[in-house]
Amino acid sequence: MNQKLGLHECFLNEDDPYILFDAWMKEAEKSEPNDPNAFSVATSDSSGQPDVRMVLLKGISKTGFIFYTNLEGKKGKDLKANPKASMCFHWKSLLRQIRVKGSVKLVDDTVADKYYNSRSYGSRIGAWASKQSSTMTSRDEFEKRIKQFETKYPDQNNVPRPPYWSGWEISPVEIEFWLDVKDRLHQRLRYKFNSGSWSKEILYP
Ligand SMILES: Cc1cc2nc3c(=O)[nH]c(=O)nc-3n(C[C@H](O)[C@H](O)[C@H](O)COP(=O)(O)O)c2cc1C
Repeated sequence: MNQKLGLHECFLNEDDPYILFDAWMKEAEKSEPNDPNAFSVATSDSSGQPDVRMVLLKGISKTGFIFYTNLEGKKGKDLKANPKASMCFHWKSLLRQIRVKGSVKLVDDTVADKYYNSRSYGSRIGAWASKQSSTMTSRDEFEKRIKQFETKYPDQNNVPRPPYWSGWEISPVEIEFWLDVKDRLHQRLRYKFNSGSWSKEILYP
């Protein structure tokens, strides 16, 4: 697919949103100063209150987009109460946005283990030491916990994954691509997943 083509050409020629996603991500990797894989993920709690924060895309499977986190933090609790999420990438360097919405499920333990073991020793210890989204009395308390887990797991090649740390996979039902056009006359292309296949439509800006 020609990456220079606008979304109306993709509307005519590109049936697979993952191919377009991949092309845009590759361009973002070249142009973004930091974290081209960063996206905001919105969740909601049992009262329906939305909440949003940034995370990093760490995998794309045949069925969705994967990020890793503490399962007992705020977003973990939200996703257990309501296993649906929306995600949004905005690449300022490219003037582009991608929005995704869908349902979530935890990745298999083998997938989570593989990613966890690829992380630095400090990140793996940090996953044990952080009670994500809980209040702490002082930074000192956190540093003590880090030391405790370093003592418990001194072998850098053998730090087990905490049971409360894993990946969520967002399985999209919609993926929308947005491209900046002069005078706010932007292009939008939305793919929808229905009965096992993708349909697409273009939207007014
Ligand atoms: C660019 C960026 C990337 C981040 N990536 C992650 C991530 O992949 N996983 C994660 O748990 N938190 C990540 N964070 C921190 C989250 O935004 C958030 O502060 C944390 O996960 C707690 O959110 P919660 O209280 O809603 O659970 C990232 C923050 C930024 C700014």
